Amino acid sequence: MLDVDRLLTQLTLEEKSGLLSGSDFWHTAPVERLGIPAIMCSDGPHGLRVQLEAADHVGLAESVPATCFPTASALASSWNPDLVHEVGRALGREAKKWGVSVLLGPGVNIKRSPLCGRNFEYFSEDPFLSGEMGAAMVNGIQSEGVGASVKHFAANNQESDRLRVSAEIDERTLREIYLPAFERVVTAADPWTVMCAYNKVNGVHASEHHWLLSDVLREEWNWNGVVVSDWGAVHDRAAALEAGLDWEMPPDLPGSPRAIVDAVNDGTLDEATVDRSVRRVLSLVMNSIDQTDDSATFDEEVHHLLARRAAAESIVLLKNEKGTLPLGAGTVGVIGEFARTPRFQGAGSSQVNPTAVDIPLDELRNHLGQERVRFAPGYALSDETDEARLVADAVELARAVDTVVCFVGLPGSFESEGFDRTHLEIPGNQAALLDAIADVNTDVVVVLVNGSVVRISDWIDSVPAVVECWLGGQASGGAISDVLTGAVNPSGRLAETLPVRLEDNSAFLNFPGDSGRVRYGEGVFVGYRAHDQLRQDVTFPFGHGLSYTTFELSDLEVELTGSVQEDDLTAEVAVWVTNTGSVPGSEVIQVYVGDDESSVARPPRELKAFAKAHLDPGARRRVKLDLGQRAFSFWSETLERWAVEAGEFTISVGHSSRDLPLTETVHVDAPSLEPPLSGWSTLHEWRADSLGTRLLDKAVPDTSLLKDEGMIQVIGTMPMATLAAFPGLGLHHELLEELIQSWSKTRGLPPGVEPQPTG
Ligand code: BGC
Repeated sequence: MLDVDRLLTQLTLEEKSGLLSGSDFWHTAPVERLGIPAIMCSDGPHGLRVQLEAADHVGLAESVPATCFPTASALASSWNPDLVHEVGRALGREAKKWGVSVLLGPGVNIKRSPLCGRNFEYFSEDPFLSGEMGAAMVNGIQSEGVGASVKHFAANNQESDRLRVSAEIDERTLREIYLPAFERVVTAADPWTVMCAYNKVNGVHASEHHWLLSDVLREEWNWNGVVVSDWGAVHDRAAALEAGLDWEMPPDLPGSPRAIVDAVNDGTLDEATVDRSVRRVLSLVMNSIDQTDDSATFDEEVHHLLARRAAAESIVLLKNEKGTLPLGAGTVGVIGEFARTPRFQGAGSSQVNPTAVDIPLDELRNHLGQERVRFAPGYALSDETDEARLVADAVELARAVDTVVCFVGLPGSFESEGFDRTHLEIPGNQAALLDAIADVNTDVVVVLVNGSVVRISDWIDSVPAVVECWLGGQASGGAISDVLTGAVNPSGRLAETLPVRLEDNSAFLNFPGDSGRVRYGEGVFVGYRAHDQLRQDVTFPFGHGLSYTTFELSDLEVELTGSVQEDDLTAEVAVWVTNTGSVPGSEVIQVYVGDDESSVARPPRELKAFAKAHLDPGARRRVKLDLGQRAFSFWSETLERWAVEAGEFTISVGHSSRDLPLTETVHVDAPSLEPPLSGWSTLHEWRADSLGTRLLDKAVPDTSLLKDEGMIQVIGTMPMATLAAFPGLGLHHELLEELIQSWSKTRGLPPGVEPQPTG
């Protein structure tokens, strides 16, 4: 067992600097002289990418066979943290077998725009759901004695200019939207490592961002793991170290270690800072070595079956009219090249070399019988032009069969790490094919295969059934067949909104930015938070998903305990859920909180709790969900802390963000957030306060314009100190000072802060 303290005294400065730099694309640096071995890390979020020979960070060179589990956009749609935990465990087992100590995932960045090329690797547009999924995955991976690396910290929400762009975000938006998923993972799952992002945040490289890497991540969230750089994210090694970045990957040799040594030698970097990071890296190495198991193994077949179960639970049944699904008796025409050449994962650093791949067409034939299923490719994946013969064959097939199952979606060239999309459309030849098929057959089931949302508003009304399968991993072919045939009752729910138009996305005006900056001008109004505030129609809302059965929610009860004063407000939300249909199924009970009246602009409602319940037909269960104080809070820019405003809050419970049959209003008591009255407070603010009004009315004559309703409307937004300088109002500076003193004395508060003189 390595003794970190002893080693620290034995290492030379050169060796310490080496330890903070890694030795190659995937390993830390060993120090053979002292018996410190190297440990290996490997991508990625939904499957291992262990490269034993040539190495790269974009998935070009060979990697060992590994189970390709559903991508994050799919897994999040399961709304089932237990399932994600199981997938995490399986990832951990595979990592262990290959001697991987740190798995580079999950990615919990928020889907700010549906155009982000890497959205398939991220969970959701919602921070709460992302955090729950991320924490479950990290806990799963680490339960096998393998570290996770939650990434990319922070505000890495686009691929365009990803190494240089500065994400310009106000603190409230960071705190409420872009940091909470990381916060949840860090505080609930204690990841061994956190990977910093490539981009800048408000002008500072994430790798050199002291506030992010030290103040927030370590001090506030009380975490002491290793911060690793994204691959190539470090630009100034000493500055990054100072900011809290411990381990640079891949190493820039010999430049980076040299830079650390030079900075210490010329006195610009304290060696204690180096030691602090070395201690963390050594602890990581030690912890990893302790848990290494050369005999570790895993069963590929078992993992494939888990991948299939996870993919099936991630499929979202968007629409199902006339009971089109599950497929009944009768002939089925499977149309679309994706049924024969499945797309099941995205490209880039997360690309896995799968152990096996299920072909949807084969799986459907196995399920339904060869004789019932005919196939036509309908389009070619390599060519976007409308190939008349392929369409004609497909239309002929559509005419001849009872039901059509048509696979459409995004080819690999449309979305990947490294670039963003510029539109939400599926290829034109696929859209044209769909039109042609819907013209000749009224029973068309559309199977969507895509990593992030596509626009379906043009054709959704012309087909009776649609399933969204995302990029469901190597077993998605079997999973799709399970859902279409009814072997599995779909229970996925959308983790991102399907907008009617790209232009309805709130980031549209500011994506992907220009001149090296991207302004997050929409603030906290991201995803459904914006669609709801703008009262926009959506094609399908966040949280939506159907089942082959039906559910009823009833008897909502909300019980508040604790208090804001004591910082321990909680609410227990209880509801009955009943399976009112005829087959077993799972419902996702979603709880949203909205502040009815707030001094800051807040979204109408935000997801704050959810639970998935499996019920047999006719069965019912009382589901209880807890909300902590944070569920009611916003980040106050003036107080620089989380704050709850007294008043009414609406708790809504239902099936999606737009289908919330149960609501209850609760009253929350909380200390006032208003700053003490001062000369900088406006006339309106003085008048809004009962004591302020009383004091003012007593102090100024009845003839003063400060008492005249019409005048108050006009000058009410002016600070009292400004009004005190105006002649004829009956107010002067000495009198104002007396008013402030009496107000503060009566309220037992220190006098409010006056504006600082300028110049
Ligand atoms: C990606 C990371 C990945 C790393 C190593 C980078 O380009 O952004 O997510 O873990 O490469 O492959």
